[in-house]
Amino acid sequence: MPLDIIIGAQWGDEGKGRVVDLLAAQADFVARYNGGDNAGHTVTVGERTFKLHLIPSGIIHPHTVGLIGNGVVINPATLITEMETLAAAGVDVSHHRLRLSFAAHLITPAHRALDQAQESARGQAQIGTTMRGIGPAYTSKISRQGLRLIDMLDRKAFKDALTSHIRAINRQLVALYDAPSLELEPVLADFDCYVETLIPHICDVSAELNTALALGQRVLAEGAQGTLLDIDHGTYPFVTSSNPTAPGALVGLGLGVGNTGRVIGVTKAFQTRVGAGPFPTEVGGDLVLRLRGTGQNPWDEYGTTTGRPRRVGWLDTVLLRYAVRVNGLTELALTKLDILSGLPVIQLCVAYQDQEKKYSELPYGPACLSPFQAIYEHLPGWNQDIREVRRWEDLPAQARSYILRIEELSGIPVRLVSVGPEREQVIELA
Ligand code: GDP
Ligand code: IMO
Ligand code: MG
Repeated sequence: MPLDIIIGAQWGDEGKGRVVDLLAAQADFVARYNGGDNAGHTVTVGERTFKLHLIPSGIIHPHTVGLIGNGVVINPATLITEMETLAAAGVDVSHHRLRLSFAAHLITPAHRALDQAQESARGQAQIGTTMRGIGPAYTSKISRQGLRLIDMLDRKAFKDALTSHIRAINRQLVALYDAPSLELEPVLADFDCYVETLIPHICDVSAELNTALALGQRVLAEGAQGTLLDIDHGTYPFVTSSNPTAPGALVGLGLGVGNTGRVIGVTKAFQTRVGAGPFPTEVGGDLVLRLRGTGQNPWDEYGTTTGRPRRVGWLDTVLLRYAVRVNGLTELALTKLDILSGLPVIQLCVAYQDQEKKYSELPYGPACLSPFQAIYEHLPGWNQDIREVRRWEDLPAQARSYILRIEELSGIPVRLVSVGPEREQVIELA
């Protein structure tokens, strides 16, 4: 089947951009289906590094077409800045190569202001959102009050709808959150410019992709965030407001269920999370800096979008098995294995326990993690630098054992092992 879906199997930042870039070499279309500019996907090609928030990571290959589906919420200001940055780097982002679903919803400055006001009001119970207006934009969508790209086509009606939207959110900001209201005129003026730039890019993504698939062309669906941040299947309420899981790709692009081929779960060789919420395998002490890095390397664990330090821990295969289940993953892409080099012992969470018993599956899904303690297996580490390894047989025996154990515990094969951020730093397994 020509539709492959790439999904974060953890709490986001697994290296999806890096894996999409690799697989996009064989793709005709790369399509984002969920989230917005809360995402930050890094692609490193030779000396050049690109950080993408909305534009699909496949755009770096000159032969692909990038699409943004109906499931995405688009901040036009961020999108246009990203288009300008890519164009300045020599990447073609004209409407021949980058197209946007007419049914995608818009994020406005009012959504961003509301995100901030709601986070402040949560006090100790903050989610730690990226403050990009994601929750409020999806709230507008679900409550049937959102602004869609197609609305821009009638400029007079769009101006009226945008005016009503800003006024309505201003009332909430003032009355519910004691926050300042937004000035209307500058927002209207900005959107006037955005409309001009974006109209040529608007299309029917669902129709384009269905035609492409019927012609046997290859499509990669690029997930943002990760399984454990899914609004339905994640660590609710510490989640995002969309469906990063595999079925989200079908809904968010307007595709039928029969199209899917490979469903690739991207997982780090350890575990990270940015923002609040449960994390049973989180580590403390010296190990934090060892896994996170000090911030000197571009791949160290600091948010691509917000710059926040990421929380770090050992790989949790209870949660990984759950990701296999709710996504129907067919295979894994394991990233950042190089970071574990030099650790004498690697811990792998294989089950949980509470006061009474041991659990190898989650009894009530990932929203209920707090009562559990992780049960670990201890595996021997390796000392060799593996960043130049390109073949399975050249990996240290301990690294191979670690990967084989992950396959055993997750029940699916590892098909890609990434040993560095650069496009070529990968071991492809049959
Ligand atoms: P995404 O949101 O899933 O696309 O991931 P991010 O780009 O936010 O974060 C992943 C980080 O890890 C980026 O800085 C990547 O360049 C980096 N990265 C990806 N794969 C590897 C790898 O195998 N080794 C190392 N050292 N860094 C990697
Ligand atoms: P990529 O695509 C990691 C997290 C936020 C917060 C929660 C809700 O780069 O993997 P939101 O702004 O979406 O309302 O925040 O979700 N979050 C991410 N964490 N990677 C991401 O994207 C994320 N996008 C949102 O930190 O905990
Ligand atoms: Mg990221």
